Amino acid sequence: MCKKVCTRVILLLFSYLPITVAQAQKAPPVPPPFRVDNLVCEYKINPISVDEANPRLGWKLLTRDRNIQQTAYEVRVGSNAVSLLKGKDLIWTSGKVTSNESLHVPYGGPMLASRQKVYWQVRIWNNRQQVTPWSMVNSWKMGLLKPSDWSAKWIEDNYLSDTTGGPSPMFRKTFKLDHKVRAAHLYITAHGLYEAQFNGKRIGNDYFAPGWTSYNKRLQYQVYDVTADLLKGDNAVGVTLGDGWYRGYTYNRKKDVYGSKLGLLFQLEIVYTNGKRVLINSDKTWKVAYGPIRSSSFFDGEVYDARKEKKGWSTIAYKDAAWDSVRTDTVKENLVAMFGPPVRKHEMFKPLKVFTTPAGEKVVDFGQNLVGWVQFKFKAKAGDSVKLFHAEVLDQQGNFYTKNLRTAKQENTYVFKGDSVETFEPHFTFQGFRYLKIVGYNGPIDSTSVAAFALYSDMAQTGSFSTSNPLINQLQHNIQWGQKGNFIDVPTDCPQRDERMGWTGDAQAFSRTATFNMDVAGFFTKWLKDLSADQLKNGAVPYVIPDVLLDKSLSAASGWSDVATIAPWNIYLAYGDKKVLEDQYASMTAWVGYITAHTRAGLWDTGNHFGDWLFYAGTDYADGAALTDKNLIAQAFYAYSTQLVINTANILGKQDDVKKYTALLADIKKAFLAEYVTPNGRMISGTQTSYVLALNFDLLPENLRASAAKRLVDNIEDYDEHITTGFLGTPYICHVLSRFGHTDVAYDLLMKESYPSWLYPVKNGATTIWERWDGIKPNGTFEDPEMNSFNHYAYGAIGDWMYRVVAGISTDEGDPGFHKINIFPHPGGKLTNAHAELETLYGKVKSAWSIDNGIFTLDVIVPPNTSAVVTLPAVDGPVTEGNADITTSKDITNIKPATGSDLQMDIGSGTYQFKYILKTHKKNS
Ligand code: BGC
Repeated sequence: MCKKVCTRVILLLFSYLPITVAQAQKAPPVPPPFRVDNLVCEYKINPISVDEANPRLGWKLLTRDRNIQQTAYEVRVGSNAVSLLKGKDLIWTSGKVTSNESLHVPYGGPMLASRQKVYWQVRIWNNRQQVTPWSMVNSWKMGLLKPSDWSAKWIEDNYLSDTTGGPSPMFRKTFKLDHKVRAAHLYITAHGLYEAQFNGKRIGNDYFAPGWTSYNKRLQYQVYDVTADLLKGDNAVGVTLGDGWYRGYTYNRKKDVYGSKLGLLFQLEIVYTNGKRVLINSDKTWKVAYGPIRSSSFFDGEVYDARKEKKGWSTIAYKDAAWDSVRTDTVKENLVAMFGPPVRKHEMFKPLKVFTTPAGEKVVDFGQNLVGWVQFKFKAKAGDSVKLFHAEVLDQQGNFYTKNLRTAKQENTYVFKGDSVETFEPHFTFQGFRYLKIVGYNGPIDSTSVAAFALYSDMAQTGSFSTSNPLINQLQHNIQWGQKGNFIDVPTDCPQRDERMGWTGDAQAFSRTATFNMDVAGFFTKWLKDLSADQLKNGAVPYVIPDVLLDKSLSAASGWSDVATIAPWNIYLAYGDKKVLEDQYASMTAWVGYITAHTRAGLWDTGNHFGDWLFYAGTDYADGAALTDKNLIAQAFYAYSTQLVINTANILGKQDDVKKYTALLADIKKAFLAEYVTPNGRMISGTQTSYVLALNFDLLPENLRASAAKRLVDNIEDYDEHITTGFLGTPYICHVLSRFGHTDVAYDLLMKESYPSWLYPVKNGATTIWERWDGIKPNGTFEDPEMNSFNHYAYGAIGDWMYRVVAGISTDEGDPGFHKINIFPHPGGKLTNAHAELETLYGKVKSAWSIDNGIFTLDVIVPPNTSAVVTLPAVDGPVTEGNADITTSKDITNIKPATGSDLQMDIGSGTYQFKYILKTHKKNS
């Protein structure tokens, strides 16, 4: 009954929309001074596959004025955009709600049906009693909410049951549309990866769809608006499948993790202009054949024989009499709408250099270690073949080096069909590389014939950070490229050797930095759903998510599995998203429950831990290695995860849990102190990581903290101001130093150019973050090829300190998502300027400082509907803002002295420029 009514509503809509909305929405020629824009639903603009029952809406305020706060909002939702503009036939209106909330406002109307499209607008009031006009109209469309919405069947080929590493099946079908199409939506997914075409044209610009999830429990489908791709009359569709993550090779060459047969699920829903609804589904009527993709694998690359192309195979003209029939299977309950961003093609790189190595090999240098593939335009005889090999580095002699790829071949092979110039790029693989070796092709290789493309999840770049020091700028560049190359639908450890998995420790270490560089809200929210799905019944979190290791004993490692609490918390801080905490709360508490169940006398000293992975293990210092006791680390992270559960329980109003976990935390800390700290505050492992974790997680009593921080500083001095931490200590070391008044020492670490340090790889030509501090050793040789990736983001976790402390942009944790902003720049490290910008969900935040002739200038932007506490460092004498004394500005209040000669004040939204004489007492300034 409901289904019928809803369908009728949808049909009605389609007859009015396209022209009338456009006409009605004409923007006024001059923007009014106060308006609302950037309307999003579940983080997306006009999404067409929403499966949240109460999708959350958000918007940005735009204004020329300072100190603007939203005081109220009104949202209205309708099923017809034209009526909506007139305020008629509404499905739901919030009414005027007194609230400053402009993010994550839940739709509160009646339950929406599968496929239902609704339109919405918002207007807001501000603290100056102004009201905006109604915003532009945006929309969202619900996905297929129940399994019964799928009438399509899974289709598979009838060939061998397992052809992993074999040819890609191609599926096709023709169909006739006997009326003009008003709207057409394709709902599609696969076992494996898919690429679809209508009438010879690729659908969409997503790659590696349907993405990687815990497939048996959550398989994403995508929705494409294909209205413009269909013709009245005859049409053809073709879909090619690849092994991908579904059955392709993974860790230890395991394959068929989710199944051995590739399959396609395809449901094309068409509405004619006469209102009739037509379905074109994957079913028995489809045909299948093998084609030019002879094999495809993420690790090993693709083999493509152009002679086997089936020209025009996705057009109606193609004759498929020789193609085979398919077999069908029914739809299961694991289908979910896509949540995160799709993988897309991004930057293009032309060759920086084409050269012959000492070993006589033809190599192209693209100048950037990137993840994606090479496109070539070559000409050769039919049957000739060319092989493309990919490497991250050259060895000491300047030869092409692939040992660190372990068993991953990263090799694309192309067999020519002998046409004129043949253009090729692979389909179901990606490579991590800077260098390309070409074998078997003797034609010209130059910027017209080869280009490299970077592929990664389509996350908007939200942050930028630069300083007066080019090495630090290169470090920031490397951090961002580490993120790009390892955010291919899941956060991976590395993108080149035979791993490429969602290693949880790497992800937790880097997660906060990630939120500064790009919009990762959808990316992490989606991955956390897989974490919950793959978490074991006893609360253990597998080493990698999605879990392809599938071995209960390979779970529950401290600092790795703690991603279950750390990542949701970091997403909450960056985006103010309480729902991610609500959704993950059961997983967070289950994880802490697992640990508690595995303690002995309150100590988590059982199980397998990676410890402070890849800490400095050199022998050239008196102390030897910087090895931190693994159980000490485990107890520290146990405390941190429990603290995050307490924080979350507080936010979610779960007071019983707050009590319960607060008592637990007290016991955890007590046990920590008794076991790992002497009464005078000396840690049993006298390492940097040991002090960093104890201080960062507040494990020491107040009276021991300053002396512990001093011991940390002493340790750093003992190592001649070098960092010795591994994956677990690195994200926090500079924060701890700054918190205890040693920002000068933090700068020493940041600016150090010799090994081990962040700038050592930079000085050695790195364009991404290395897995190890000494991937290339000071003597020019490589580290052990078994563990030597040149694109691992974990050490890039310093980026968070660069944004939050050097430039000084952070969110108040009590009012997250940058609703209340702290601006507190920390000049030092001989920098004469630092500049950071962050596009938050409220708008742009900026903190840019410079020192010129002893004058400190700070440019600040605070977006509308937020406010900031600004702390000006080392103030000597009067401060001006916009050339007037700060005390005269009505937008600057509560001016008061802070620590030392710092000066603190509250400011409203807007653009500010502060100037004053800088006190030059700091060691590194
Ligand atoms: C990965 C790491 C990961 C680790 C676990 C490695 O092989 O590349 O980054 O966290 O295993 O110790």
